[in-house]
Amino acid sequence: MKGKTMAVVGAQWGDEGKGKIVDALAADADIIARYGGGANAGHTIWVDGKKTVLHLLPSSILRPGKTNVVGPYVVVDPEVLVAELAIARKIGATVILDPRCQVVTPLHRQIDVLRELTNGTGVIGTTGKGIGPAYEDLAARRGPKLRDLLSTRRMFRALRDRHFLEERMLLIRTYAAQGKDETDPIRWRLFAENGRDWPELELSGWGVQHAETIAPHLKDAAGLIDAADGKTLLFEGAQGIMLGMVAGTQPYVTASLTGPGAIGETLGVHRLDRVIGVAKAYVTRVGGGPFPTETPEKGDWLRERGAEYGATTGRPRRCGWLDLVALRYACRMGGITELVITKLDVLRGLAEIPLCRAYHRGDGAPCVPEGFDAEGLDGFQPIYETLPGWSEDISGCRSWDDLPENVRTFLNLVSLQLGVPVTGASVGPEREQIAWR
Ligand code: IMP
Repeated sequence: MKGKTMAVVGAQWGDEGKGKIVDALAADADIIARYGGGANAGHTIWVDGKKTVLHLLPSSILRPGKTNVVGPYVVVDPEVLVAELAIARKIGATVILDPRCQVVTPLHRQIDVLRELTNGTGVIGTTGKGIGPAYEDLAARRGPKLRDLLSTRRMFRALRDRHFLEERMLLIRTYAAQGKDETDPIRWRLFAENGRDWPELELSGWGVQHAETIAPHLKDAAGLIDAADGKTLLFEGAQGIMLGMVAGTQPYVTASLTGPGAIGETLGVHRLDRVIGVAKAYVTRVGGGPFPTETPEKGDWLRERGAEYGATTGRPRRCGWLDLVALRYACRMGGITELVITKLDVLRGLAEIPLCRAYHRGDGAPCVPEGFDAEGLDGFQPIYETLPGWSEDISGCRSWDDLPENVRTFLNLVSLQLGVPVTGASVGPEREQIAWR
């Protein structure tokens, strides 16, 4: 019999503050499992004034005594992994890695970046971490898995797969012909330059130098979770539902499923007692794509106040007002049972706070988009209602009743509009800076 099950998912376009919420909820969990995405994620956790940014391991590793799991749907860059395992080792955190995780190679990163460079107006604004090409290989049933890093022979076979190589060499040759330079740690270039059918593939031990570090952590994640009778399970999402490969704003999305449905499919847990959606009190997104409530007027103010720069890439984030139309959609698609609203402290000092309750298509008449992909959202603009702001410093609030009336009015309206309870309000970056209802 399973114990309690919870999931933390992003309800916007990522960067909602999931890391902090996972860290907080992990206090009451036994096993915490990251279920999707890769090192495109940047989960920031502040403990006692010290900042830790994690890209792959669950945000719970800072709490000793927990079992931290990386599920098989996560695509893993070995360099990032090894750096984070070193952090975990220092803390004494237990880390379990599923041997089936797809490995992100330097070539994936190159292809990701080169595609964006040569895409002209079709730029997605990816993080350049090789995520798309790695998930493509997962779908194409090729390329190395984490367990292949244990032996040069396995790695060689996985990388030498005919399809894996041919398509990539074609791409690299094309880019090379356009004068684009790339660095090549796996020495694929021999093939690209010679134009031969088969490369003299010089692996130079890429990846396998980490075998000893990684090997002790490899274990079937779904099996471990299945055996965890009576334990409390917490699943950590990456990115947000609006960035999901299918449900998000296609094509301006990441290359994986981001909602909690992926937990059932990849880790075998289909019943979730709580699906906690995390949303900022305003909205940000990095990269291209539709963003109906983006505000050019107050964008700089929000960015500076909220330190809205990418945790993975340092890019300035686009900023806008809370969009209840998109959030309602995300709650429905993600089966979100409760919301935690973050970064409320950032809005302090605004006389009025705009809140988007509906969209129109230029004529002011409220209407609903037929889908939330880029085409479906084309031409939709926000209809705002304004709520009174607050001038109080709320960073010390630790309970619902501590929050000023205008903050509670804001949160109650969000809850009422969406039909989803707001159970938490985050009022600062530190672990304790949260008011639970
Ligand atoms: P990719 O995931 O690197 O392929 O990037 C695809 C899109 O998702 C781009 O718009 C990225 O900026 C966005 N993205 C990916 N990961 C994150 C994240 O953790 N936070 C916010 N945006 C992200």
